[in-house]
Amino acid sequence: MSIVGLQRVTYGVADLEAGARFWRDFGLTPHPGGGGARVFTTAEGAEVVLRPLDDPGLPPAPVAGPTVREVVWAVGDDAALRQIAERLPAACRREGDSTSVRATDPAGHAIAFERTRLTSAPVSPTPFNSPGHAQRIDQQAPLYKQAAPIHMAHVVFAVIDLDATARFYRELLGFRLSDSYPGRGMFLRAPGASDHHNLFLLCRDGAVGFHHVAFDVRDIHEVFGGGLHMTGQGWATHLGPGRHPISSAYFWYFKNPCGGAAEYDFDTDIITDAWQPREFEPTPDAFAEWAFPSGTRRYDGIQTART
Ligand SMILES: [Fe+2]
Repeated sequence: MSIVGLQRVTYGVADLEAGARFWRDFGLTPHPGGGGARVFTTAEGAEVVLRPLDDPGLPPAPVAGPTVREVVWAVGDDAALRQIAERLPAACRREGDSTSVRATDPAGHAIAFERTRLTSAPVSPTPFNSPGHAQRIDQQAPLYKQAAPIHMAHVVFAVIDLDATARFYRELLGFRLSDSYPGRGMFLRAPGASDHHNLFLLCRDGAVGFHHVAFDVRDIHEVFGGGLHMTGQGWATHLGPGRHPISSAYFWYFKNPCGGAAEYDFDTDIITDAWQPREFEPTPDAFAEWAFPSGTRRYDGIQTART
């Protein structure tokens, strides 16, 4: 079952202009969108789509307000798409069309599967100088005025029933477990992808909903170039710049008016089925990075998740 990566995230947003400005400043390429939508792409052709919050065509989300309303996974071929359609129980299927399969995961997130439209966007390696190993001589390092994200790498959902949600992705869709905080978080990789994770399920403080989406950039210089540009444009940092202990990635997250956060990411671990999943203790230091931006909320037992 060849799910090769992330094709699209669709947001329902309260302020289309602010949302569009955020993604332009973040470095995605704008495209004309029909029906009042705004569309932005990465260099590989993954899409961010913005629709008005009250668009009746948007599927429901576990939280009210601006947030991601659908995550679309890219599938390698039509046979894989048919296989997904056969495996997903009717109870979680949503109405689709001949080119897609639409469903809702056990935590209430609308997901879909479409034939991949991702393309490769080759990047020249950046030479680095380390002690005794100079690769860049008589030449300055790249200096980026703004980022231009290449690859939509992962999305993160906050869930209450971590095991049930992970079982859905692992047993029905073939996602692989990369690493975990037992009982608190699972890093999952799509079966046809090599990113350390394409989906992180986070179980913390009773929160539900979309947490963030991450984009790979070309090198560490671009993490800083993009982050400084975003800061200069008035966007607030959610977390960073920093370096994840799990996945090894350098990061910088920004609070997103469309909901949750958006992350610049560089040098994440690339893994295969030979990778041995590890378990990590969710110590306050290690787990503190998973603080919540807007777009998720605490589950207090009174405000039940929307269905
Ligand atoms: Fe992330």
